[in-house]
Amino acid sequence: MDMTQPPDPQLSDDLERFRLRNFLAGLGADEIEIREQPIDLADVAAALEANPKAVWFKSVGPERAELAGNVAGSRARLARAFGATPQTVLAEVVRRLGNPPEIIEVPRERAPAQAIVATGDAIDMTALPVHLQHEADGGLYISAAIDFAIDAKVGWTNVGMRRLMLRGRAETGIDLVSPSDLRAIYLEAAARGQTLPLSFTIGANPIDMVAATMRLPVNELGLVASLRAAPLAVVKCITNDIRVPADAEYVIEGFLDARGHVEDEGPYGEFLGYYGGVKRNPLFHVTAITRRRDALFQTVSIGGRHMDTTDSAQLVALRTEATVWRALETAVREPIAVYATTATGGMFNLRIALRQRVPGEARNAILAALGSLANVKHVFVVDPDIDIFSDAQMDWALATRFQADRGLIVETGLRTLPLDPSLPDGARIGAKAGFDLTWPFGQGERLERSIPEPPALSGARFSSLEAALQHGPKYFSELMAAAGSRDGREIVLALDALRRAPGLDRDARGRYVLKPG
Ligand SMILES: Cc1cc2nc3c(=O)[nH]c(=O)nc-3n(C[C@H](O)[C@H](O)[C@H](O)COP(=O)(O)O)c2cc1C
Repeated sequence: MDMTQPPDPQLSDDLERFRLRNFLAGLGADEIEIREQPIDLADVAAALEANPKAVWFKSVGPERAELAGNVAGSRARLARAFGATPQTVLAEVVRRLGNPPEIIEVPRERAPAQAIVATGDAIDMTALPVHLQHEADGGLYISAAIDFAIDAKVGWTNVGMRRLMLRGRAETGIDLVSPSDLRAIYLEAAARGQTLPLSFTIGANPIDMVAATMRLPVNELGLVASLRAAPLAVVKCITNDIRVPADAEYVIEGFLDARGHVEDEGPYGEFLGYYGGVKRNPLFHVTAITRRRDALFQTVSIGGRHMDTTDSAQLVALRTEATVWRALETAVREPIAVYATTATGGMFNLRIALRQRVPGEARNAILAALGSLANVKHVFVVDPDIDIFSDAQMDWALATRFQADRGLIVETGLRTLPLDPSLPDGARIGAKAGFDLTWPFGQGERLERSIPEPPALSGARFSSLEAALQHGPKYFSELMAAAGSRDGREIVLALDALRRAPGLDRDARGRYVLKPG
């Protein structure tokens, strides 16, 4: 980190360019719903449920706070954040992962995220616009919090997303049950009887959320910079030594209690669409709340019946795809596309298109994908002609290119997500399946495996039908092209004449040929 940087106009621009408010301001009416009218916190969840658009509430609760929801809840919006399309965003993320990160520390005076500071008795988490998300949730949850912690072993900053359950003005629960780097860092501190400093940003560009959802063995602050493809301005927190993006809307500083997983947390509407129950989890103590002058709070959608419009499924899908893509790059020669369906939470059902260069690569791809992430449960592999973003084309491929006794791979006893409600109670391992929907290697050429298209009539012209047929076997459409026909019925009559003399035949693909002699 360079702490001696002079003020840099480009950096000042970036402090505004990547802020949540400006990302929202750039969305068109097809992507964002702006709600000017006042709304109670109790009604926010219903306004976000199954809503394909981001929602910008301009007046929430008695404080008339500003709140944004569902910001990352569509692939189009995620793609927009990366300057890509829904089809190209994965390639763009993978490309940006290779960007050398540049992190620049700015002093507090230049950090919009610390324009207003509350410490001590001024801390009040219940003054933030935090709403009840699901009927049976154990309380009010901050759902859009990105966490930053220092991994003392390597000195790197670990970045993730973790929900916070309000327990009072300066105390929250946190979910730290699943295997994660933060959990490991925390358990080491707690084993030494030490608290773990931790800070959260709330109100972030979707890029920062994508970076937070990734789990890579790097300084993940650098990952934020790499994925932004711009220098990342960070500021040191006021009450701990953690650096956080200086352009966040809000920062919550504090530490995790040293007593370990001792307090009840949950239930909560989880990322598979169902509730997770009450868990024993650590406590988070708040030591400062800092924010922008015109701070915009954020919430994300997670559980429920309409998974494909949730921030959670969209973010997790990109992370799943990036992880699987990297595994495929070493497992097979020519992966074409990867898509984790968001209706299944962005991880359980995964689609791969690849061009098989040697027999067996489809099955290698299945095993590589299943092994790359515990969260990948069913893998569907297709040839490159199938659009893996189309449910209809995938259904068609499953129906017509799959034989269960040949193309199904089932593996049991694998690590999976204990949250999967189809597992027996308490199970931690489960089954996974692969579906090879590719044509048998080298056998996709038969007419019965070719796909009908409307006639293009683009074949070569000939002086007569007979000359065309002397040139070689022709489909009816090629004979129409040969004669320049825009009709076809006269070709029927011409073929009828040829059938009588010199004689016509059909080849194995149904093309017309002249009888020999
Ligand atoms: C919206 C959202 C909320 C999440 N909430 C949690 C959470 O509360 N607890 C958790 O362990 N993981 C949660 N995750 C998953 C982690 O953020 C993710 O696994 C991350 O890679 C963990 O980072 P780490 O291993 O570097 O600590 C959430 C992910 C998303 C997208």
